[in-house]
Amino acid sequence: MNKSRKMTPLFSSNRKVVIVGAGAVGATFAYALAQDGAAETICLIDNNHNLADGQVSDLSHGLPYYPTVSISRGDASDYADAQVIVITAGSAQKPGETRLQLLKRNASIIESIMDDIIGAQSRAVVVIVSNPVDVLTKVALDHSRWPRSHIFGSGTVLDSARFRYFISQEMGVDVKSVHAYILGEHGDSELPAWSLTNVGGVSIRQYVASNGMADSWPEKSNKIFEAVKNSAYHIIDYKGATNFAVGQALVHIVRAILRDSHSVMTVSFQLKGEYGINDVCLSVPCIVSKEGIGKVLVADLNQKELDALNHSASVLKQSLESLSI
Ligand SMILES: NC(=O)c1ccc[n+]([C@@H]2O[C@H](COP(=O)([O-])OP(=O)(O)OC[C@H]3O[C@@H](n4cnc5c(N)ncnc54)[C@H](O)[C@@H]3O)[C@@H](O)[C@H]2O)c1
Repeated sequence: MNKSRKMTPLFSSNRKVVIVGAGAVGATFAYALAQDGAAETICLIDNNHNLADGQVSDLSHGLPYYPTVSISRGDASDYADAQVIVITAGSAQKPGETRLQLLKRNASIIESIMDDIIGAQSRAVVVIVSNPVDVLTKVALDHSRWPRSHIFGSGTVLDSARFRYFISQEMGVDVKSVHAYILGEHGDSELPAWSLTNVGGVSIRQYVASNGMADSWPEKSNKIFEAVKNSAYHIIDYKGATNFAVGQALVHIVRAILRDSHSVMTVSFQLKGEYGINDVCLSVPCIVSKEGIGKVLVADLNQKELDALNHSASVLKQSLESLSI
């Protein structure tokens, strides 16, 4: 295994965020971030310069109504003083292309972006969003040999938001009072951490029992998880891409870095023995701050959940191995 490069501690305090990929996700995130006010400077980079220019113009025409922010088209030199770099660059599947061929193409896009980031001597925290996010986060880490704290994936932050939403709809409770995590792969092998789920501090098991829902709960809970897992497929069928909720999830992550808030979220992080898992990036609750990931929370999962997390890790390991064939 490659040894990590040494990195002098971060950070510039310019609250500059570079977004690589100005497509549906990158542009929506830029819009949500501009409205949030956490960033001072937002740079959009895309191979398609016309698209980046168009997005920057459109976003900039809203400047009178955002909190003060500067928005521009960037290039690789912008990595040098960025505090956060968010990579949403990706390539869609071409006709006749296999999943593996697509994976290899997206991995080489991530490697070339990481080369530019390293070339600019950047010390930013890098957040990978492009899919398959867990595999590409590992690719970025291995290629750069940066410390694992500095490169992580958006993971299941979006899936956990969907999970909270569907639970809140079922319970008729404000989504903000529902605390729940989806763990593992951002994809088919992800798992619901029901044992950590609570409504206003009351465990879901207790909540269901005391509200006369115990009999219908096994079926309802399955439906909730299926809805989470299939959300992206349905939305992509309807409108071609998912962009709003992921844009908001990215603001949540980036704000935690810029504001050093030490927020707990399920980002995709390279585990080194936590939960008995090694050398794979997947989502578990982590503390996000200006230094990237400061800590992994080792939650008291039940055996079924631990087995499902390990299964997710082995699915991801297989994908990683397929890359080197
Ligand atoms: N992790 C998540 O929760 C999540 C959610 C939604 C989408 N995604 C992923 O985010 C990625 C982007 O989705 P989208 O809908 O915005 O796609 P999109 O096709 O609209 O945008 C991708 C952009 O990346 C650009 N690009 C490609 N290679 C580049 C490079 N080397 N440098 C700079 N720009 C480059 C393209 O020109 C394009 O504009 C996809 O991989 C998608 O699967 C992840």
